[in-house]
This record gives sequence, C-alpha cells and structure tokens, in this order.
Amino acid sequence: MATEIKNNIYSVGVLDGDRRLFDALIPLPEGTSYNSYLIKGSEKIALIDTVDPVKENELLENLRSLGIDRIDYVIAHHGEQDHSGGIPAVLKAYPMAKVVTNTKCKDELKEHLLVSEDIFMVVNDGDSLSLGNKTLKFIFTPWVHWPETMVTFVPEDKTLFSCDFFGSHVGTASIFEHDDQLVYIAAKRYFAEIMMPFRVMIKNNLEKIKDLPIEIICPSHGPIHFKPNFIVDAYKDWTSDSVKNEVVIPYVSMHGSITEMVNYLIKNLQEKGVVVKAFDLAKMDLGEVAMALVDAATVVIGTPTVLVGPHPLAVYVAYLFNALRPKTKYASIIGSYGWGSKAVDQLKSMLTNVKVELLEPVYIKGFPKENDFKALDRLVQTIKERHSGLES
Ligand code: FEO
Repeated sequence: MATEIKNNIYSVGVLDGDRRLFDALIPLPEGTSYNSYLIKGSEKIALIDTVDPVKENELLENLRSLGIDRIDYVIAHHGEQDHSGGIPAVLKAYPMAKVVTNTKCKDELKEHLLVSEDIFMVVNDGDSLSLGNKTLKFIFTPWVHWPETMVTFVPEDKTLFSCDFFGSHVGTASIFEHDDQLVYIAAKRYFAEIMMPFRVMIKNNLEKIKDLPIEIICPSHGPIHFKPNFIVDAYKDWTSDSVKNEVVIPYVSMHGSITEMVNYLIKNLQEKGVVVKAFDLAKMDLGEVAMALVDAATVVIGTPTVLVGPHPLAVYVAYLFNALRPKTKYASIIGSYGWGSKAVDQLKSMLTNVKVELLEPVYIKGFPKENDFKALDRLVQTIKERHSGLES
C-alpha cells in the first residue's frame, strides 16, 4: 500500500512476511520487506530503488494507486536483485525513466539484468540531481555491503535513503513500526548477518554521513528510522573495536560428551561473572549465533569427532565465524573423540580471517573425566583473565 511519509515522499514498497530464506542462506524468521520510495518534486519524479522481482506487480500497483503516469528517474543504490530486480518491469511501465546510478552499479546491473547501456545516467560521489523543489544528493558508501553501494540525501526534507545500510529483515510489521526493541534486535541481526564482515568500511561510511542534518532514515528493508541517532549510535557500537565480557559457545553433541563439557563451562564461567551464550547447532537458527558474535570477546566451538574430523555443523559454524569476521579477541575449541582425530587442527586451519588469540583447546577421549574437567577449569581461568576489565 502506498503511504505518504512526508512532503510528497511516499513509501511504495512491499512486505514479504512469508519469505523464510534470503540468498538461499539467511533465515528470515520475520520475513522481510523491499522498501521503495517515490519522491515527487515540483518538476521531476524519482523512484528510490525497486523491489524483488517476485513482488514487482505490487510495486507497480502501488504506483498506479498514486496516479503516477510518469517517472523521470529510478535511483539504483545497489545492484543486488532484491532492490534492482524490479527495474526492467518499472522501465516497461515507465519507458521514459532513466536509471541513475554509479559506474560500478551500472556494470553490475548490465550483467545481472541484461539491460542496455542507454537506460543509464551515471553519477559521481557528491553529485546532486534537482527534482525542482527537492534535491537528490548522492553519497557513495562502498561495501555496505557490495562495492557499488551508495545512499541519497534529500536536504529539503532532511531525509536519508540508505538502501541496505541501517536495514533490517522485518516483513511481519509495518515499516512505520515504532517498537525500539523490535527494531534494535532486527537491525542487529541484519548487521551481524550482512554487514559485519565490512565493519571497518562501515565505520568510514558513518564518518561520511555524520555531518548531514538527518531527521529520517529510510532503509530498503525494515522499519523507517524516525530517531536516526538511535540506529546510528547502535552502528557505532557494533562497528567499534570494544568487546564485551561474553563467551559464545556454538556446539554440537552426538552422545552427550560435548553437552557435558559445555554445561560445565557455562556453570564455571558464569560463577566467575562471565556472560555465556551457548547454542546447540542441531537446533539453532544460525542468525542467532551471528548476532551473539557482534559483541563477544571469546568464541569456543564444541565438536564431537566424525570420520576423524569435526562434525559438519561445527565446520559450518567455523566457516561462518571466519567469513563474518567479528571483532572477537579470543577463541578456543573443545571436543571429544573415540580414537585418533584431526578435528582441532582442521577447525584451527579454517580460522584464517579472524584475528584471535587461540586459547589452549580441550580435546578429550570419550566422556569427560577428572583430568578433563581440570583442563576446562584452566580454560575458564584463562578466559576470566583475558576478560579482565571488560564490561558485560
Ligand atoms: Fe537488500 Fe544487498 O540487498
């Protein structure tokens, strides 16, 4: 449904509350939304991003409901198809429109959408485009989360259109949702899953927009931010180098040995004042693990031995940990085997991207016994010492 946000700026995007996976990878417990915005200037009309092709008819219906018979510009902030995939349908309905984007995004769109060169108007970082009484100012924000990503600021309305930047996957609530806690959790999960590998670049982009007098942030997924400092401050925290007095323990257990070790670790770490977030990988949504990785100082992966290597779920979580590149400072591995094994060496060899100090692993034969619990005590003590001075 098309809704006016302010002064001839309309939401014309679509909720997709039933979608359960993004990129055939990321769980979407709340679905998602493809936010698209229409800006009516006194002389020109611009559409800010489109929607995923599965919802393009709903976008066109929203435009028709506003009586839109002309679009001059389609602003393409990002080449990924959940925002750009509706461009061919929009151009078919509004053939005079030009796609306004940067050179990198143009090249991506030509490859992904098989569109021709002559539909594009290319802009540079800092360029402006007048709609008459409103101005579109383009700011390049690379790597949130592809190399071509950019945002648009409309100074007359103090509104920032940020595409994936500051977004969240929420398709079961309106984009006008005002529940701060809901928005915070969804945005943190989105940051963890999508943005965390680009933490350093995101810091640079936060600097780039910090002097804009922003009153509203309109992302291309999830609720609009009518309190921009709320989400900008959260991003500053998540992208900072400071870690919390927290241990994340993603683990899998086949016959109870790892569960016993994990329960022992949880009890003893908590007794020393360390916050523990443990996840049984056989049951967990990996988005929850990713979200816990945003703040934690330490990660301990627990694995049994399968065919002399780590359990495949432990391999999966080690791969994600390495790919998401959280700011974690310390890591360890706990495990159990029946006979000889290379599980610890194989998991260690996967952690090439994360800059962690590897704490002494605890790798035991069978069910944990007295000496094994002593080894876990040493790991607890080391974590306690490393976490000295950290806030929970
Ligand atoms: Fe929402 Fe990177 O696409």
